[in-house]
Amino acid sequence: MPPSTPDFVNSPPWLALAALQAGMQAQGTRISSLFATDANRTRDFSLEAAGILLDYSRHLLTREARDRLLALANAAALPAAIQAMFDGEVVNNTEKRPALHVALRSPRRDTVQERAVHAALDRMDVFVDQVLEGTWRGYSGLRITDVVNIGIGGSDLGPAMVHAALTPYHQAALRCHFVSNVDPLHLEQTLAGLDAASTLFIIASKTFTTLETVLNAEAARRWVLASGAPAAQLGRHFVAVSANVEKACAFGIDAANVFPMWDWVGGRYSLWSAIGLPVALGSGMARFRELLAGAHAMDEHFRSAPLAGNMPVILALLNLWYTNFWGAQSKVILPYAQNLHLFPAFLQQLDMESLGKQVRLDGSSLQTASGSILWGSAGTNGQHSFHQLLHQGSMLIPADFIAVAHSHSSNDEQHRQLLANCLAQGRAMMEGLGMEQARAQLLAQGLDADSAVALAPHKAIPGSRPSSTLLLQELSPYTLGALIALYEHKVYVHSLLLGINAFDQWGVELGKVLGKEIHAAMQDESAASGLDASTRMLLQRIEQSRTL
Ligand code: F6P
Repeated sequence: MPPSTPDFVNSPPWLALAALQAGMQAQGTRISSLFATDANRTRDFSLEAAGILLDYSRHLLTREARDRLLALANAAALPAAIQAMFDGEVVNNTEKRPALHVALRSPRRDTVQERAVHAALDRMDVFVDQVLEGTWRGYSGLRITDVVNIGIGGSDLGPAMVHAALTPYHQAALRCHFVSNVDPLHLEQTLAGLDAASTLFIIASKTFTTLETVLNAEAARRWVLASGAPAAQLGRHFVAVSANVEKACAFGIDAANVFPMWDWVGGRYSLWSAIGLPVALGSGMARFRELLAGAHAMDEHFRSAPLAGNMPVILALLNLWYTNFWGAQSKVILPYAQNLHLFPAFLQQLDMESLGKQVRLDGSSLQTASGSILWGSAGTNGQHSFHQLLHQGSMLIPADFIAVAHSHSSNDEQHRQLLANCLAQGRAMMEGLGMEQARAQLLAQGLDADSAVALAPHKAIPGSRPSSTLLLQELSPYTLGALIALYEHKVYVHSLLLGINAFDQWGVELGKVLGKEIHAAMQDESAASGLDASTRMLLQRIEQSRTL
């Protein structure tokens, strides 16, 4: 697909949206007033796809604003661009690659990619069976009891998040662990208490050159050897997932035990490939395939639904609306499910590595806001921490609430409390508490009139703070797959609206190069002369502290 980035900030739909937002702000439009004047708002501002209900009625979004956002989407020729991704066109123009993560969850069909994907899935099937049935054993003949995934970024966040989300589906006989950080304590603390003879490492790295992963893999190899494993038996304890078979083999992994990755799948979109091996080992291959099926259902929705009824498109338009027209600098992700506690961290890479760009596809500078800051944590914990800022802070921070109707817990009553809290937070953000209301409440509580007047401003909540609610029937592999794919596609649509490349990440490279320079200066003082004064001073202080 040729890069086409029209001057959208001066385009008629963009200017119309800017004017509309200014009018809404000047009139003080409140979300609750949009309900008061529109009896069909919840019906017409909600969507269902792949087992997920999206309620986006609690937004600063009039019907006219939605129409104008959809006009912007049409002007960006979204349907053609969406199809281009599915067709394997070169949507990642700076790296001259397609972005075909959708092929990873496509049913068996006869394209080159899909043949490769299904051959890899079949290999995963065999391997998972071997480990779970105990035909794959460690060097001393023990069954594998612990799997340690060593990887970082997309080679860690996706599988770690999904593994945690699927806790109710875990196989009792196998524990999975995830090591990512170059901080040596991460690996050491993970291995403490594990028996090398029954531990299997997955070295997950698309490039097999990532510093953190290579260093942790080498340390893991030393640990296994130190336990008494004969060097010739190391292969019983290491498999890899990589596009760089040569490097994986040079590390000492048998080529037959290197599961493939492909350059047409970006790291942060790779959990559907053999990067998901810890998920398949932890919950079983059947569950992994259900995850793929859920994602595929969302793919089909994304590819075929008209823009106005297309869930990823609506989420992307909302994101753009707040970031580019209302000045929102962040959005908060609030999964009301403890098992989704890693979901915000996973989305941080997906969203911020994809949308944190300063130029458009053609290299011209992006004249407006890029993607925004994404953060969050599992509810209800945040209610006792950062929700104060959501309710009374000065910033507009749109929220995505994720609720799960059925729990895997038998404690249904407590699960109802969780759901009630989730719905209450969205409602509190929308309705707020007026000054008069606050004062009346304080008087009703027995406060004297002067104290009530003094305290009311502290208690009042502005409200009209926007949120979406995504309701999952249950947190199953299928709905989880659909949920992740939903956000993947939202990110792609957002990138199309801005005219940027969602699939490269050049900004992370400089730090890697400078890290090497500074590491060299730690070994050889003369290499420090080219460093800046602050870095030199800190290096000196580090050296002094280390020799104390
Ligand atoms: O440094 C960023 C990054 O390239 C991510 O995009 C990627 O997911 C991660 O590093 C890990 O890369 P690899 O799988 O090649 O080790």
